[in-house]
Amino acid sequence: MAEVIGTSDRVALGAFDGLPVLNVADLDADPHGMFRRYRAAYPFVGHQAGGYLILRHADIERLGNGSGTAASETAHPEMFGVTEGALFDLFEQGMLTANGAVHRRRRSPFSRSFAARTMADLRPQIRRSAEELIESWYADGRVEFVDQFAAQLPARVIGNLLGLPRADIPSFTNLVYSVTRFFSSSIVPDEIPELEAACRGLRDYVEKTLDDRRSAPRDDFLSDFLGKADAAGELSPLEIVFQIVQLIIGGTDTTRVAIVMQLALLLQHREQWDAVCRDPSLVPGAVAEAMRFEPSVASFVRVTTEDIELGGAVLPARQFIILSTMSAARDGDAYDRPDVFDIRRTDQPRLLPAFGAGAHRCIGEALARVELEESLAALAARLPHLRLDEAPVIKGHSGIRRVDSMRISWQP
Ligand code: HEM
Repeated sequence: MAEVIGTSDRVALGAFDGLPVLNVADLDADPHGMFRRYRAAYPFVGHQAGGYLILRHADIERLGNGSGTAASETAHPEMFGVTEGALFDLFEQGMLTANGAVHRRRRSPFSRSFAARTMADLRPQIRRSAEELIESWYADGRVEFVDQFAAQLPARVIGNLLGLPRADIPSFTNLVYSVTRFFSSSIVPDEIPELEAACRGLRDYVEKTLDDRRSAPRDDFLSDFLGKADAAGELSPLEIVFQIVQLIIGGTDTTRVAIVMQLALLLQHREQWDAVCRDPSLVPGAVAEAMRFEPSVASFVRVTTEDIELGGAVLPARQFIILSTMSAARDGDAYDRPDVFDIRRTDQPRLLPAFGAGAHRCIGEALARVELEESLAALAARLPHLRLDEAPVIKGHSGIRRVDSMRISWQP
């Protein structure tokens, strides 16, 4: 069996009897190919870092919805030998990995603020931010798109929502990009001290921002949340800090990668880009198809609470499971011609697997969709003739995926 980096009290790491164990090097080289090959023969396989990879669309929906599963609490950091510190607190104190009443207590203060109707009201403001960014480099006729647009828009949006100064964007986004590396199943133990330092930096930044708001409340989301949270007394000071940390993390890197990939995929399928430029009503379909074809979050995780029968095999209880949204999104049992990028497809499920499932389904989904749609609409309106000079390379097959650079140009 492959090397297992650590173990958790709550979760046994299975011996994967007789199952293939996918190793990180093979997944790095060809993730879609590996998923395609194994998905056809196995509902689940082992992962080199420990934990089972669930591959099929229907199984991911069922297990993600809580059937025989629970949120993973601190199993992920423990698997990598992290049992204290800011990274550990992120998992112990945040909503993402909490169960039952604890999860509801942590998530419910934000549910209304992030509801689809509230987010729709932000459309004009988000469109204006996208247009401002485009105008800031339009006259140059070329731009490195990842840093100058895709990274900026989500950071500005979540920063505006939380009332964070624009000048803080470079520092908090860099901390986020480091911390999100810890959500992957391919972390190398040597990387952990750097990621821990980044998580401490993010926690300290949020703590200081909250202290400032307590001493000088404003008419904004954060002051309102703090006033209510302090009055209700249901969240500990550390829980308050880590819910905001999770919103900043969730709202920054995931959307950055998705903004890059949707533009790159459209430009690589030029006739579909041209169609979006001619007909903006194609924008929501293009966003959904890009999220399916190359999701920015490749997986989400759970633990099994009982033995589960899947496709004729038994997934044992008390196991760490990685639900591969990346594999689900190319499952031929769920999609017609799954390896074809087609913004007009009619078999898109109402709930895209890329946003997770059940009680933990992404709280920022409505916000992310507005950001993705408004940024694409703004780019298509202003830059219909743009050229893709350097395509981004997307890497990663679990947790949040990574992109390098992307260069585009146009005739101003
Ligand atoms: C394209 C963009 C995004 C993608 C692909 C994405 C994906 C996900 C996924 C897969 C999960 C885990 C769901 C599960 O375990 O079932 C999640 C949870 C979460 N996301 Fe997002 N997300 C995105 C944008 C955002 C934004 C903009 C925010 C912030 C406002 C955000 C905040 C969160 C939070 C706080 C959770 C934890 C929810 C809970 O456990 O109750 N995400 N997201």
